[in-house]
Amino acid sequence: DAGSTPAASTKYDRADDSARYNNYEGGVMSLHAQWSTRLAFMLAAIGSAVGLGNVWKFPYITGENGGGAFVLVYLLCIALIGIPVMIAEVMLGRRAQRSPISTMQVLAKEQGASGFWQIVGWSGVFAGFLILSFYSVIAGWAMAYVIESASGTFNAISGDGSGDVFGGLIGDPQRLMIWHTLFMIMTVAVVARGIRAGIEKLVVILMPLLLVMLLILVAYAFNSGEFGRGLAYLFSFDFSKLSTDSIIVAMGHAFFTLSLGMGAIMVYGSYMQKNTSIGSSVLMIAIADTVVALLAGLAIFPLVFANGLEPGAGPGLVFVTLPTAFGAMPGGQFFGTVFFVLLVIAAWSSAISLVEPAVAWLSERDIMSRVRASWMIGLFSWILGIGTVLSFNLWSGDEYKVMGKTFFDLKDYLASNIMLPLGGLLIALFVGWAAKASMSKDELNLSSGTFNLFWLAIRFVAPLGVAIIFLNAVGLL
Ligand code: PFF
Repeated sequence: DAGSTPAASTKYDRADDSARYNNYEGGVMSLHAQWSTRLAFMLAAIGSAVGLGNVWKFPYITGENGGGAFVLVYLLCIALIGIPVMIAEVMLGRRAQRSPISTMQVLAKEQGASGFWQIVGWSGVFAGFLILSFYSVIAGWAMAYVIESASGTFNAISGDGSGDVFGGLIGDPQRLMIWHTLFMIMTVAVVARGIRAGIEKLVVILMPLLLVMLLILVAYAFNSGEFGRGLAYLFSFDFSKLSTDSIIVAMGHAFFTLSLGMGAIMVYGSYMQKNTSIGSSVLMIAIADTVVALLAGLAIFPLVFANGLEPGAGPGLVFVTLPTAFGAMPGGQFFGTVFFVLLVIAAWSSAISLVEPAVAWLSERDIMSRVRASWMIGLFSWILGIGTVLSFNLWSGDEYKVMGKTFFDLKDYLASNIMLPLGGLLIALFVGWAAKASMSKDELNLSSGTFNLFWLAIRFVAPLGVAIIFLNAVGLL
């Protein structure tokens, strides 16, 4: 009889599953993928957090904003705002076990809150597009620089010479497009393979490698750079250099570096096992990310100072200043190459998490397969990335700038300093005010003292912190 043929019964099961799956009133479905171990989750989340933000952006914005005092504000934002929001994000994802868009839908319903909250998921998908569309281009610079340093381009190069190499790269749209394309393909290829066969397999190899390389570079800076000056630069708190804009940049960077406010950490949390502790995992992820940023600073600034160079060079710091330093030092060709390989690795494991929220949504709703979704999202970001490529050459003139910012600067500013903190603010408000306390209590499983601390942070400290910094930035406070 036809009803019992394998084909028919497979079809029936699938229909049944998707009906259950789309029934948001129902209990937790097991259709969603899961990390194979807690370590896999940790490495993936650290892989997402540790990226261009730590190794490229943190050193240069620290340099632009005068060093120590900026670092202090950044550390405060990590501790008081970043960690509570990260706990909230992981918790929401793990509770709903769905993509960020569906997570916010289901949980809003479960908690008797308005459907408005799914805006968090949507804005996350959009922010992911925006960030990836410049992230991939900068990662492309790093790939180009692996080749340049390995082939000895920077040996004994002058500051001007190094500036010319960088100018030659970013002034050439074709070369930038090639690297941008390659990096995007690398990213999509991993996401298309899925959680275990793609993301997990990659981070398990890349993260230990990254740590080893970073330690080698710090040891090198310790031996051959002005380590003491590097330390002093990062940790001497000179508040006179701190402007209002510095504070919003520090807060934006805290969100950016922890991958918060856009669903990346939420979607990784959704693949987490139910029995793992969220609080301690998040604490370790945030500490790892912060330590890597500080170590990157300690690998870079001592070399910059030892060669009489300036730390305030902006985005060119690791691409112009640092190669000059490597070029002047014994072993610089090797260590310089290690540095840029590290940068590519860090960028790769972060870029995959920018694509995952959108891919998770498209594939979970059966709109398209994971493979198709990955390539489509990659394609959109790639197209938007053409604008980033042109920001450094054909569109670099003042006539193409809006409020003094190129298309690249605008995307970075909008995503990092506005969308991510706003996403984080909404997440904090949802968990602390719209949802019931019992939700957090159930998921987090903390002692009552620790829970109260979290509750204070998520209800008051984090939202007020973000709000005050925003109001201040627009001149209302
Ligand atoms: N955290 C990454 C970095 O520091 O480079 C950037 C990033 C990745 C931001 C993923 C946001 C995100 F969802």
